Amino acid sequence: MPFSAPKGTYDVRPPDSARWLEVRGALLAPARLAGYALIDTPIFEDTALFARGVGESTDVVSKEMFTFTDKGGRSLTLRPEGTAGVVRAVVEHGLHHGQLPVKVWYAGPMFRHERPQAGRFRQFQQVGIEALGVDDPALDAEVVALAVEAFRELGLQRTELLLTTLGDRVCRPVYTEQLREFLAGLPLDADTRRRAEVNPLRVLDDKRPEVQALVADAPALVEHLCEECRVHYDLVRAHLTDLGISWHEAPRLVRGLDYYMRTTFELQHPLLGAQSAVGGGGRYDGLSEAIGGPPLPGIGWALGVERTLLALDAEGVHGEPPARCAVFAVPLSEDARRFTVPLIDELRRAGIPTDMAYGGRGLKGAMKAADRSGAALAVVIGAEELATRVVQLKDLSTGEQQAVSADDVVAQVRKRLP
Ligand code: HAM
Repeated sequence: MPFSAPKGTYDVRPPDSARWLEVRGALLAPARLAGYALIDTPIFEDTALFARGVGESTDVVSKEMFTFTDKGGRSLTLRPEGTAGVVRAVVEHGLHHGQLPVKVWYAGPMFRHERPQAGRFRQFQQVGIEALGVDDPALDAEVVALAVEAFRELGLQRTELLLTTLGDRVCRPVYTEQLREFLAGLPLDADTRRRAEVNPLRVLDDKRPEVQALVADAPALVEHLCEECRVHYDLVRAHLTDLGISWHEAPRLVRGLDYYMRTTFELQHPLLGAQSAVGGGGRYDGLSEAIGGPPLPGIGWALGVERTLLALDAEGVHGEPPARCAVFAVPLSEDARRFTVPLIDELRRAGIPTDMAYGGRGLKGAMKAADRSGAALAVVIGAEELATRVVQLKDLSTGEQQAVSADDVVAQVRKRLP
C-alpha cells in the first residue's frame, strides 16, 4: 500500500471511533445545557482573518498555517483555530443584533503545521464554545465553569485550572512598556531581545531555566491592573468560588494567540508531559474590531479531543466500549436470509440496534460474529421453522434459547433487552 495518512494526521476508526464520538459529545454536554447552540463555519477562511484576528506575531500565524492560493488568486488558510471564524460569522450575519449573549458551540478539525509528537498533531479536533456581546464577569465564570465541568463529566479528576487576567487596552500597554524597559536591562540573547521588543509578555513564558531565572523579578501584570480590570477579575473569582471551583493563579500564563484580554485560562493535565494543555480560552474583547467588525466583547474556550483521550487513558478512565448492536440475526439458509432482511428492518424501525450475519457463514461462524458484535440477543432463523414463522431468540450471555413467533419478535426482543 503506497499511501499512508499525511504526517501529523491520523484516522478516526472503529472500534475506537465510538469512544472518540462519545468524548466529543460529553465535552459539549454541559454547554448545551447552558443554552449554547451549534455554529459550523468553513474549514478555510481568508488568510487575513487569522493574520489580523489571531495576530501576525504569534507562532500560530507566522509559522504554523496551512496557506494556499485558490484558482481565483485568493489567499486562503485552513483554520488553525475556531474563534476568528466564529466572530466573523456572527458579525457577518448580524447575530449580535439579536438576543445577547450570542452563545454558540462548535466541533471540528483545526490545522497547525507543528512538529508532530505525542498529543500534538497537524490536524486535530477541537470542541469549543463562544459567548459574545456581553461583558459580564458572571458570563466569564459560566464559560470557565463549563470547561471544568466538561472534564468532570468525563470522569477526569486531575485536570487543573490555571487562571489569570491579561488586563485591557487601558492597563496592558502601560504594563507592557514597563516590562519592555525591565527586559531591556537584562543580558538576553539577540533572538530573545527581538522577541522582547515585539511581544515582551511572551518572554515571561520562555521555558528555558536561564531565562526564567533572569525574569524572576519582572513586574507582574496583575499588580498593574486598572481599576475596571481589577474589579472584573475579583468578581470572576468570586463567582468561581461560589461555584465551588478551584484554580491556580497563573500570572505568567501566556497563550499562543494575541486576541486575549482580561480573563484568560488554561486547563492542564499533569500526566500528559510536554503537551499538557487539554484546553484553553479567555476573553477577546478587541477581536471583532481587529477584523473590521463593531466593538463586540466575547469569551470562549476550545478543548482538544485527542489530548482529552490521552488524559482519560493516563487516569485509567475507560468507558464501557458501546456494543455495536443489541440484536444480531443469524439466518441458516438462503430462504432464511430472504426472511431475515425484512425482519432486521422491522427491528431497526422499532429503534432496536440490529445487525445480521452477512456473507453466507455457517452456524458456527455466524454465532461467533454475533458474540463479537456485542449484541445481547441473537435471533436464529432456521430453514425448517420458516413455514411456521418461528424464530429462536438466544440470550448471548446465558445461552438460554426460546422459540418465539416472528410476528411478535419486536415485543419479545424488547422484553429481554435491559
Ligand atoms: P488553543 O489553546 O490554541 O486555543 O487550543 C485549544 C486546545 O486545542 C489546546 O489546549 C489543545 O488541547 C488543543 N490543541 C492545540 N493545538 C493542538 C495540536 N497541534 N494537536 C493537538 N491538540 C491541539 C484556541 O484554539 C482558542 N481558539 C480557544 C478559544 C476559544 N479562546 C477563546 N475562544
